[in-house]
Amino acid sequence: MAHVLIFPLPLQGPINGMLRLAEILCLQHINITFIITQHIHRRLLHSSDIQVKYHDTFHFQTVPDGLPEEHPRTIFEFSELMQSLGAVAPSILRKMLTSTDAGKQVSCIIADGLLTFATDIAAEIGIPLLYFDTISPSAIWTYMCLPKLIQAGELPFKDDNLDETIRNIRGMEGIMRRRDLPDFCRTMNFKDPQVDLVLKQVHHMPISQGLILNTFQHLDALVLFQMLKLCPNIYAIGPLHTHLQSSDIISSSIWQEDRSCISWLDKQPSNSVVYVSIGSLSFMTKDEFLEILHGLVSSGSRFLWVRRPGSDPVSNEEIPTKLLRGIKDRGCTVSWAPQREVLAHRAVGGFLTHSGWNSTLESIVAGKPMICWPHYVDQQVNSRYVGEVWRLGLDMKDICDRVVVEKMVREIMELKKDTFLERAREMADAARLSVSEGGSSNADLGRLINDIKNMNLCTKSN
Ligand code: UDX
Repeated sequence: MAHVLIFPLPLQGPINGMLRLAEILCLQHINITFIITQHIHRRLLHSSDIQVKYHDTFHFQTVPDGLPEEHPRTIFEFSELMQSLGAVAPSILRKMLTSTDAGKQVSCIIADGLLTFATDIAAEIGIPLLYFDTISPSAIWTYMCLPKLIQAGELPFKDDNLDETIRNIRGMEGIMRRRDLPDFCRTMNFKDPQVDLVLKQVHHMPISQGLILNTFQHLDALVLFQMLKLCPNIYAIGPLHTHLQSSDIISSSIWQEDRSCISWLDKQPSNSVVYVSIGSLSFMTKDEFLEILHGLVSSGSRFLWVRRPGSDPVSNEEIPTKLLRGIKDRGCTVSWAPQREVLAHRAVGGFLTHSGWNSTLESIVAGKPMICWPHYVDQQVNSRYVGEVWRLGLDMKDICDRVVVEKMVREIMELKKDTFLERAREMADAARLSVSEGGSSNADLGRLINDIKNMNLCTKSN
């Protein structure tokens, strides 16, 4: 039986995608060892009843991330987390791969694209390695083009004009402005550990046996076409969460879901609610919080807002009475929502999102138009694609202003509601088609499963 060792980044977004892939592989009778940091494992256990129906073929292998337990592990300390993991994980991974348990012999490693230490270890031990980059392919493609942008003198930017068009990314001509590149391009400090990580990743991905991406052909055909020139073996198998008909066998939430919002949604008219969430890592300032709240309340729309612990610093006492009344009359707030269920709910008509890749795909599958307020990593690129290429919503980009929020909410929820809903429905249909029999993602997934099973045969015969 094939045995895959899956190693995600210890963050909510990447864990979501990797766990979905693990479930799919388990159902294909492939053994999975899912490497997870002790910190994330504790949080998973605490926030949900982990049900692992396929316990014979799936198991978590916990590892330390090297940080003290009280470390906050927020986005601000991301580089610290990566450095620490990079220091402790390689020897653990090497030991796991060389353990003598023949029955558990690993046929292949699937690692997050940022865990570049896996390249040398896999080569040294002679085990195939597939990278799975859980962010958007369009952002990965901009990463891959960074050396070219630097060489062509487009990076670092020569002045402050963020509306200048980017010329040296094949397949993105006429689409990208400076402000649509990943956030770190604005400062492009080569000493920044994030830049170093990204450049390393770009170098490592093409030398692996394959690259797994959470997207589908219809959505990202042009970008995939370009990427194939550098990475000849791409498995575009998304949207991953749509492959499984039954509910998840393994809950991937590291926060406890508050399901009261579903009963609240049940009482609202169809397509009347704006769902607001900035994912698992982003945060907003008090001013930004109040601008968004002002805009929502003035728009007259109903809203469901996820106020994740730490996502804003505002106490109820600091919210003006008029806005508190707005929340009470037409709003609902929770600390963490069952997001996919919320997006699929008939009452939700739009999504004000930070444009994280999971959220973007989940919104696409649910057929809900988006208002994008990107923060970092791939989000600047994603929001540009939502607004300009796929036309599934509006890109607020660098503006957080009550007048703009109100205007965009009105546009999505009233003025251009039918047009946006129609386009969103079409893309949702294309997403579903891609994972169904004969669809592109279905075919790529089948190929991935076959390749993994054949890798097992190769490992056994060695
Ligand atoms: C991070 C990066 O920020 C993002 O840019 C990158 O694409 C993936 O990794 P995150 O910021 O958490 O992820 O955003 P996102 O990718 O959207 O993932 C958030 C996940 O949390 C989604 O799957 C969403 O369904 C889930 N979620 C969010 C909930 O289940 N409940 C909530 O209340 C909010």
